[in-house]
Amino acid sequence: MLSDVPIAKLSREAPIGVFDSGVGGLSVLGEIRALLPQESLLYVADSGHVPYGEKSPEFIRERSQRIAEFLLGQGAKALVLACNTATAAAIAELRGRYPQLPIIGMEPAVKPAAAATQSGVVGVLATTGTLKSAKFAALLDRFANDVRVITQPCPGLVEQIEAGELDSEATRALLSGFVQPLLAEGCDTLILGCTHYPFIKPLLRQLLPASVSLIDTGAAVARQLQRVLAEQQLLALGSARPTQFWSSANCQQLEQVLPLLWGPAATVKPLGD
Ligand code: DGL
Repeated sequence: MLSDVPIAKLSREAPIGVFDSGVGGLSVLGEIRALLPQESLLYVADSGHVPYGEKSPEFIRERSQRIAEFLLGQGAKALVLACNTATAAAIAELRGRYPQLPIIGMEPAVKPAAAATQSGVVGVLATTGTLKSAKFAALLDRFANDVRVITQPCPGLVEQIEAGELDSEATRALLSGFVQPLLAEGCDTLILGCTHYPFIKPLLRQLLPASVSLIDTGAAVARQLQRVLAEQQLLALGSARPTQFWSSANCQQLEQVLPLLWGPAATVKPLGD
């Protein structure tokens, strides 16, 4: 049972546990590494269950609990849900279960986009699960009253990115079908509301006029993590140990895409189911 998992006394040199449905959270992991190079990092790719975006909130909560339990078992001092879909479905429950643990999530950057748009039309690319969530509806209620927000679910896109197809013809065609309707409506600010999507920014830039701004939240999440760790006197003071990776699918597949999406090659260990 999850509630039986002891949380080790949180210590500064303990690692930060980060997870996503797959490789998307590596875009956030990169921002954390850049801002907090002294922190040791653990990363779980739940690629055996990707995409989360088409799964039920109950299923995502169950997976998130299982992975949180695993990361805490590895001694994590904080959790980062490097996934908009898992944050929408599971962060409230995780925070309820581990009230003393820093838990950082992410959500589409509606507030900065509403402030930035000149045309008054903001587009949101995200998963079906994120766009259907109560958390997203609340976000719109709070920050999007003065702008028009057009949401665009992107089924199939996460699978392309998982396969390392960041600029194939198939990915281009799929993405083009998602952004064209937004452009036709006059969108000048596009929110990347899924952590997989920053990896296709170069392709997106080719499909969009230069006047369209792209907004994602990886760097803001890293800053929020830094703030929370500082407040709780949990920022590491020593040097980082090598980042460790686990996958719930084929470990070799993640090992193959790590140099493309993360940088240094690393061994990936099996998460089990
Ligand atoms: N990367 C995830 C997100 O930020 C979810 C992708 C998926 O598995 O559908 O929403």
